[in-house]
Amino acid sequence: MTEPSSPLRAAIVGVGQASGKGSPTAGAFRIGYVHARMYERTAGIDLVAAADINQANLDAFVETFRVANAYPDLGSMLKDARPDIVSICTYVGLHFEMIEACAAAGVRGIICEKPFVESPAQLTALRDLVARTGVKIVVPHFRRYLGAFARAEEVYNSGEIGQPLVVTAAIGDEWDLSEWGSHWLDMFRFFHRDAMPEWVLGQARVTTRRGFGHAMEDHAAVMMAFPGGGRAVLETGVNYLNDGVTMVLSASRGSIVVIREDQLRIYSAEGERSESFEDPEGGLKAWSRMAAELRDWINDGTVPRLGFDHVAGTAELNLGCYLSMVDGDRIDFPLAHATQEWPVEALARRRMASKG
Ligand SMILES: NC(=O)c1ccc[n+]([C@@H]2O[C@H](COP(=O)([O-])OP(=O)(O)OC[C@H]3O[C@@H](n4cnc5c(N)ncnc54)[C@H](O)[C@@H]3O)[C@@H](O)[C@H]2O)c1
Repeated sequence: MTEPSSPLRAAIVGVGQASGKGSPTAGAFRIGYVHARMYERTAGIDLVAAADINQANLDAFVETFRVANAYPDLGSMLKDARPDIVSICTYVGLHFEMIEACAAAGVRGIICEKPFVESPAQLTALRDLVARTGVKIVVPHFRRYLGAFARAEEVYNSGEIGQPLVVTAAIGDEWDLSEWGSHWLDMFRFFHRDAMPEWVLGQARVTTRRGFGHAMEDHAAVMMAFPGGGRAVLETGVNYLNDGVTMVLSASRGSIVVIREDQLRIYSAEGERSESFEDPEGGLKAWSRMAAELRDWINDGTVPRLGFDHVAGTAELNLGCYLSMVDGDRIDFPLAHATQEWPVEALARRRMASKG
């Protein structure tokens, strides 16, 4: 890291609900609070401002983190506080317009929450905007920085358990392919050396469920193929994995079982062993590493693995999963679609029409 003369000035928009229990349909995970703690422990960045359209949410946040400048909307914060970095912690429907506003105001770095964009058209427009303005964007798929996942990737690709074959995961508790699933799609890419899959095939049951401002599937399954032959399979809405199992990485001469997010059971020709990666800080170190990489990208041009080209690819994969369901066909990457809406809305409309 090169030492800048003064710390970068960070701001957060969409600080998080002051009360309420987090859920896939009601939000209220207060991810803005995690971003604030991330900035607190990252050298070279100071949190100087926050904005939220809800006064009670803003007041609670400002009191917790003693933030000097509070604003009722993003526009006034950009104009008055002139931040170098903005964390966009609102739902997906607002991300694109907020990124545009930040770039127009000269913001240098953005940490934009997932799901990143709503549609293929937005993704194309965002690629143009980044090429035009040079704004540096990361998306917090921070799990790749957790010890258990980093070690699983190392063993899976080391040859110790043979040829990598398939990574499987399932997410229950009403979670979908975008709000939680986007993290697992990113992990699938991580386990395949960050490659884009060649294609994806998916199917879903969509009825009336909505969360975070968009239609959500009740149940979905997707399968994708990576260059070299590796496969990954994700099921959402129903979790068939028991005993704390999060993911299974199967190879030709063994397997790796990820337990919760902090333990591995590795089966190889030499037998079975466990490795533990307990994290008393609940992942905050991983978040801070991500912020530090954005800081270095701004200060000395070192592009992080979670940089824009990569996270745009993961968003493209997420959209491709849903577009496979809309088209009833395999989707090959890069996407050839230019549609303008969240693809699950099309599935919800189709379901309504079929019910008369
Ligand atoms: N990276 C992760 O691990 C992770 C974890 C949880 C949530 N998230 C993502 O973070 C995002 C936020 O989720 P949450 O549950 O923390 O949200 P939340 O419901 O706790 O808070 C959203 C906040 O946005 C504010 N807001 C809404 N419209 C606004 C506007 N136009 N301008 C300014 N503020 C506005 C609301 O008043 C509220 O304070 C979602 O996209 C979610 O998927 C990511």
